[in-house]
Amino acid sequence: MAEEIITKKRMISGIKPTGKLTLGNYIGAVNQFISYQDEYEMYVFIADLHALTLPIEAKELRQNTKDLISIYLACGLDPNKVVLFKQSDVHEHAELGYIMTFNSNMGELSRMTQYKDKSSKISDRQSIPTGIFIYPGLMAADILLYDADYVPVGVDQKQHVELTRDLAIRFNSRYSETFKVPEPVVAKRGSKVYSLSDPTKKMSKSESDKGTIYLLEDVNIARKKIMSAVTDLGHEVKFDPENKPGISNLLTIMSTLSSTPIEELEKRFEGSGYGDFKKAVADVVVDFMTNLQAKVKEIQASGVIDKVLEEGALKASYVARKKLSKVYRKVGLR
Ligand code: TRP
Repeated sequence: MAEEIITKKRMISGIKPTGKLTLGNYIGAVNQFISYQDEYEMYVFIADLHALTLPIEAKELRQNTKDLISIYLACGLDPNKVVLFKQSDVHEHAELGYIMTFNSNMGELSRMTQYKDKSSKISDRQSIPTGIFIYPGLMAADILLYDADYVPVGVDQKQHVELTRDLAIRFNSRYSETFKVPEPVVAKRGSKVYSLSDPTKKMSKSESDKGTIYLLEDVNIARKKIMSAVTDLGHEVKFDPENKPGISNLLTIMSTLSSTPIEELEKRFEGSGYGDFKKAVADVVVDFMTNLQAKVKEIQASGVIDKVLEEGALKASYVARKKLSKVYRKVGLR
């Protein structure tokens, strides 16, 4: 019997284990990212080498890595469908990163917006960490090792994927066809979540703690943050981001976590005040977090993380090793 062979396009993405994941990350990104796993052959790695770009405590890096993996698994990333691994477990990343960096030039690296942003915040030019400058060489290697077709990234990373394309094309023309030239996929933005204490700003890791809900924090603290979220003039629960940014933000959160359309929520809270509404939002958030945290705890206690990472590294290494040895031959190291 003829079997239908479906070749899926390959996708790769890295997640940098700096900072703690927030409710904003979940609603805006994690959720959507996981939805790719059925459609694509996915490689997902924890970009722990990239996390060293700026100073970070070893203990914090270790904890972040463990938390990130468990959150992704708890949210539904399926290691049977996705090759999930840690970047530093596959040494080919560092090795190809070295070669890609040596095939880049000062000009193109200096033009990277992220480099310009980060370095401009450091007043003493002499102490700008080299890592933020050469970062894209390693990122290019992450992608090119796997012949990825697509790279899902946030807008801020699109330029790095474009540079990756340039480096791949340059290498191919200098040494003959070696790398697949990948395309960035800038995720259709999930709903954007704003700070609870200043709903005109994004909810971010670096925002004030009052405005940000961390997925693994104490649910009672999270409840308090929701209850003291900044609301707007008036008393109607209506989605109106311009005039009611606070209430609209809470509606987005509740709507996503409870899979209920916003209009339905507006109807449900017609006539009730902000207080009752906030309490309902807090209940939904606390429910969601309680559930997630229980799963995370279970995952962390089960020893499954080590197993998943070990298998992931094995599969990734198999692909990466072949590509790197091809590169070593082409440049004359073999
Ligand atoms: N630079 C990405 C970020 O800061 C993380 C990353 C590293 C990445 N290597 C990658 C993303 C390769 C996609 C592909 O978010």
